Amino acid sequence: MSSLQIDDTGRLKHLLTLEGLPRTGIVALLERAQAIIDGGADRGALSGVGVCTLFFEPSTRTRLSFQRAAQRLGADVLNFDAATSSTTKGETALDTLKNIEAMGVRGFVVRHSDDGAVARLAAAANPGTALLNAGDGRSAHPTQGLLDMLTLRQAKGGDFSKLRVLIVGDVKHSRVARSDLHALRTLGAGEIRVCGPKSLLPDNDTLAGCTVTQDFDAALEGVDALMMLRLQRERMEEGLIDSLEDYHRDYGLTAARLKRAAADAVVLHPGPMNRGVEIDSDVADGPRSLILRQVANGVAVRMAVLEALLTR
Ligand code: CP
Repeated sequence: MSSLQIDDTGRLKHLLTLEGLPRTGIVALLERAQAIIDGGADRGALSGVGVCTLFFEPSTRTRLSFQRAAQRLGADVLNFDAATSSTTKGETALDTLKNIEAMGVRGFVVRHSDDGAVARLAAAANPGTALLNAGDGRSAHPTQGLLDMLTLRQAKGGDFSKLRVLIVGDVKHSRVARSDLHALRTLGAGEIRVCGPKSLLPDNDTLAGCTVTQDFDAALEGVDALMMLRLQRERMEEGLIDSLEDYHRDYGLTAARLKRAAADAVVLHPGPMNRGVEIDSDVADGPRSLILRQVANGVAVRMAVLEALLTR
């Protein structure tokens, strides 16, 4: 993956995953995003550059914040709508990309349901075309990982070695959790705890170095940051959880439960939220929630990534 997304000089060609991305590269993107928040960006940096959001799965935050980020850098933004596209007539994702590439588009922000789909498209793209993974299967959601790290840095400072972070919920099917785990390890998080029902926890390799438990109340003790994950409701139909009520009882973040965490603990959630299932509204909308800060940071992070990949 490394040679596909990084060239011989260490420059990013595509952003496919945070796995294997050097600490210096991650920190540089976070610092650039923070500088954009603090001082703005060159509104003409991507003037004349075509950027297409190519989403084969639904999205609100990722698609719109990439569009906003590209617009703020002066790019020409094209929005591909799978439901009204020729993919409904059987055209493949690769043929779709090659045809839009032939129109002179250089940046593709891609979401796809298949693991590795964005990397496969990147491998077939022309030199100079950049692919940005906006979430593929359960593999990776790198810009979500970056915006989560930026949000943690803002709240807790840049020294992650002091941080005890707890990731809660459907880790097994979560590309967000994988990208967060890659970034937290690379940035040297002091302790990473992972908690969820056994049926929703991934294999040991994914959780290497993490403290793993199914006991949410125990896992909460003293943590500095909680990263709550969306319960994918289809998991109930698949028999992986008994009921939404049981899930909320065992793994729902309530105001009472949050008291077990450190007094200044912060709460993150990538969205969309199932209020009353994995998180209660008084927590999601409460003073410890950074959920809308995550969304705001997403625009700056995506600007930083677009700049890194598409400016020469
Ligand atoms: N966090 C996230 O990926 O949200 P969307 O599915 O709305 O893009």
